Amino acid sequence: MKALILAGGAGTRLRPLTNAIPKPLVPLLGRPLVMHIIDSLPKEVDTVVLAVSYMKGALESYFRQNDCGRKVVLINEEEPLGTGGAIRNARQYLDEMFLCFNGDVISSLDLTAFLDHHRRHGGIGTLALWRVADPSAFGVAKMLNGRITEFQEKPSPGTAVSDLINAGTYAFEPELLDHIGDGFVSLEREVFPKILERGLHGYQFTGHWVDCGTLESYLNAQSVLIDDGEDVVCVQRQEGARLIGANHLDGVTLSHCRVGPHVCAMRGSSIMDGSTVERSVLMEGAQVGKGCVIKDCILGPGAQVKDGQTLNGEILVRGSSA
Ligand code: GTP
Repeated sequence: MKALILAGGAGTRLRPLTNAIPKPLVPLLGRPLVMHIIDSLPKEVDTVVLAVSYMKGALESYFRQNDCGRKVVLINEEEPLGTGGAIRNARQYLDEMFLCFNGDVISSLDLTAFLDHHRRHGGIGTLALWRVADPSAFGVAKMLNGRITEFQEKPSPGTAVSDLINAGTYAFEPELLDHIGDGFVSLEREVFPKILERGLHGYQFTGHWVDCGTLESYLNAQSVLIDDGEDVVCVQRQEGARLIGANHLDGVTLSHCRVGPHVCAMRGSSIMDGSTVERSVLMEGAQVGKGCVIKDCILGPGAQVKDGQTLNGEILVRGSSA
């Protein structure tokens, strides 16, 4: 079976981090987002098809250097074709039922149970659905007896027809390709409303689900995974540091600082005397000087925070000043 991962978006909401790293390669607890998806695939998936466009060279070189245990094929779009156009562009690989993913979603969905559900209920496709309090920023699905009867993309507040949202994971039959036209096509806005009558089913799941497309949701995903037990503490050098709550620290230098809760600090990063870091990520080689207060931040690879700085809710990359 093939799994198609949509991985060609520009990731504008995570800029400036995504100026240098395509979103599928942004590390979450030290592993690229796309690898969280690939590692969760059931055994029957032997080929991963990545629909790429933005910074495709970085993705090519990642998969050349890292064996993920499955065949990986990259399909390029010269110009981004949208989520629907990307699927159509990969059609030469999609001749039987396939799984399809937004490349930035982290979830506890049991893909084997999801596929069973699709096989039992038939139809052109099945969407994984997740319940939220405010669905206005998402694609909303109204369901009747397990079948989706209406689909709204990002309804204005108060107009949503349900609180179930599209979790960005699908099982599709190849027949879907007959309903996607040429050029730029949005799966959610243009294709879903057209295929409802072909039998589009919903599969609601619980556990965790986070779309990592923004600073806030990325940090939320990190907290969820750390709370779920994915904590590694392997500090390289630690003098008088205080660790609070579950954290993910791998090969870091900590000196007389307060770290946590919900901090991930990757290899080669450091936090110096008198600094406090909470609910943030320090990617490889990021450095926090002395007497800093860092909260709700992404510090990209090699980012540097000078002594005495306070940062709240910022994305900082190498070369940007703070
Ligand atoms: P923003 O610019 O911040 O909205 O991020 P994005 O470009 O990643 O868009 P969005 O989060 O809506 O995309 C959801 C998923 O679809 C992501 O995994 C994207 O990589 C992917 N995606 C979005 N547009 C395209 C496209 O035109 N082509 C391909 N191949 N993938 C896309």
